[in-house]
Amino acid sequence: MYNKMKFYGDIKMKSIHYIPESELAAQHTIAETLSKEIEPRGLRFFVETFGCQMNVRDSETLKGWLYETGYSEASDKEQADLILFNTCCVRDHAEKRLMGNIGALKELKDAKPGMIIGICGCMMQQEGMAKKLLKRFPHVSLIFGTNVLYRFPEMLKAVMNGERIAVTDRAEDAIAEDLPKLRDNPRSAFVNIMYGCDNFCSYCIVPYVRGRERSRKAEDVCSEIVSLVNSGITEITLLGQNVNSYGNDGSTGMTFADLLRYVSDVPGLKRIRFMSSHPKDLTEDVMQAIASLPNVCHHVHLPVQSGNTEILKRMNRKYTREQYLSIIEKLRSLVPDIEFTTDIIVGFPGESEEAFRDTMSLVEQVGFAAAFTFAYSPRQGTAAAKMEDQVPESVKKRRLRELNELQAKKTVENNAKYIGHCGEVLVEGCDCRGDETMLYGKYQNFKMVYFPGKPELLNRYVNVIVTKTNKNSLLGEMIDA
Ligand code: 5AD
Ligand code: SF4
Repeated sequence: MYNKMKFYGDIKMKSIHYIPESELAAQHTIAETLSKEIEPRGLRFFVETFGCQMNVRDSETLKGWLYETGYSEASDKEQADLILFNTCCVRDHAEKRLMGNIGALKELKDAKPGMIIGICGCMMQQEGMAKKLLKRFPHVSLIFGTNVLYRFPEMLKAVMNGERIAVTDRAEDAIAEDLPKLRDNPRSAFVNIMYGCDNFCSYCIVPYVRGRERSRKAEDVCSEIVSLVNSGITEITLLGQNVNSYGNDGSTGMTFADLLRYVSDVPGLKRIRFMSSHPKDLTEDVMQAIASLPNVCHHVHLPVQSGNTEILKRMNRKYTREQYLSIIEKLRSLVPDIEFTTDIIVGFPGESEEAFRDTMSLVEQVGFAAAFTFAYSPRQGTAAAKMEDQVPESVKKRRLRELNELQAKKTVENNAKYIGHCGEVLVEGCDCRGDETMLYGKYQNFKMVYFPGKPELLNRYVNVIVTKTNKNSLLGEMIDA
C-alpha cells in the first residue's frame, strides 16, 4: 500500500542515533515495578504545559509514562501527588511566570511533604537553569530536559527513593520511537516528523535548547498515523520547528513534499495539517503537493516575522519581503481557498519606524486569517541579544498595539468573505450555555465556525453554511448532519 516512497541514492545519508529498544524495554520494566507501589496508593499527577505544540506533544508522552507508572490524572494541583511543569523559554516572561508558579507551590508542599514537584521542557536546557532552580527551590526534586523523556521511569524512581535530580543531557541527534503517549483528543492528533532546528534565526533560542535538526523515518511517521486512524482519528498535524526542512539532512531519503504524498495515502485520513513552515524552504514541490493532494488542508502557518528585508536579514531569515509575498501569491493562484496564518515580531533590534511600517503594509497586503504577534524579547546566548540598537520597551508595546489593531481589522475583512460559504466542518467542541447549544469546529482551511447543533455531533463532520460574522468568528447553520 505504501509503495510510493522515493529514495535518493545520491544523497549522503546522515545516520541518526536511535535510542535502542533494549534501553526502552528497561524503562518499561522500571515503570511496571513502580506501578505496583503507585497504583494501590491511588496517586495522581497534574501536568501543566507552556509553549508550543511540540511541548503539548511531549506532555502527551509524559502523561503516557505517568499512567504506565501507576498514576491517574488529578483535576487540579491541590489534588495531585506529582506536579510537573513542562516549560517554554522562547520569550522572557515565561521564566518569570514559571518562577511565580513554583514559588506558589511551597505551601502545598509543606502541607503534603510526599508530593513530588518536577520541571521539564525547553527552559531546563538553558545553560545553568537546572542548577539555579534546584538551589532556589528546595521543594523541587525533579528536573529534566527535552531529550531524555524516554528515561522518565528511571528518573521518577530515583526521586521516589529520595534523590533530587537534574538530567539535562543533550544526547543530540537521538530519536526515541514507540514511547507511551496519552492522547485525549479522539478526533485530531499531533505527530512529530522532526525534532530540533538548524536555522539559528538570530532572535531564537530554540536551536540552542532543542538541538540539531533530525527527521523521523517516514515509515515510523506513517505507522504512527495508521494506528491513530485505526483508533478513530481523522485529522493529524505534522509537527516540527520547520516541517519543510524534513529530510534536508538526507537522513530519510525524502523531502517534506514526498512525505506529504506518502502520508496522504493512508486510508481514512481525512485531514493533514502541518506546522510550522519556514518560507525559505517552502518549495514549488510542497506547493504542488498542497494543491494536488485531496486530504492536505488548505492552510499554511507561515511565520513572516517582519515585512522589512533589512530586518529579515538581521534576523537571519534568508528570504526577502518580496520572496515572501511571491510565495503567498503563488500559493493563492494554485489553491484559491488557501488561508495563511503567521508569527510576527515587533521591536527587533534596529527596527526603525519605517521598517515597522513595512511590517504593517505587509499585513495589510497579505490579509492573514490570524497572526500571532510578539514584542521582541532578548534571549541570552542568541545573536540578536548582543545587537546594539535595542528598541525601547515602550516603543515595542506601542507597535504591538498598532499591529494588533490592524490584524483585528484584517480578521473582520477576512471573515466577511465567508458569508454564504459552505463546506465540511469537523466538530471540535460545544458551547453548552443557556437554551441553545452552539457547536464549533473548523473548515479544512482552518477557519473556525460556530453553529447550533446537538452535542452528539462532536467529533463528526457536518456541512455548515456561514450566515453571519461577528468580530472574531463565523456563525453558520448546518445544512445536514
Ligand atoms: N522574542 C519574541 N518573539 C520570539 N519568537 C521566537 N523568539 C522570540 C523572541 N526572542 C516568536 C517567533 C516565533 C514564535 C514561535 O515565537 O515569532 O515564530
Ligand atoms: Fe527558531 Fe527560526 Fe528555528 Fe523557528 S526556524 S525554531 S524561529 S530558529
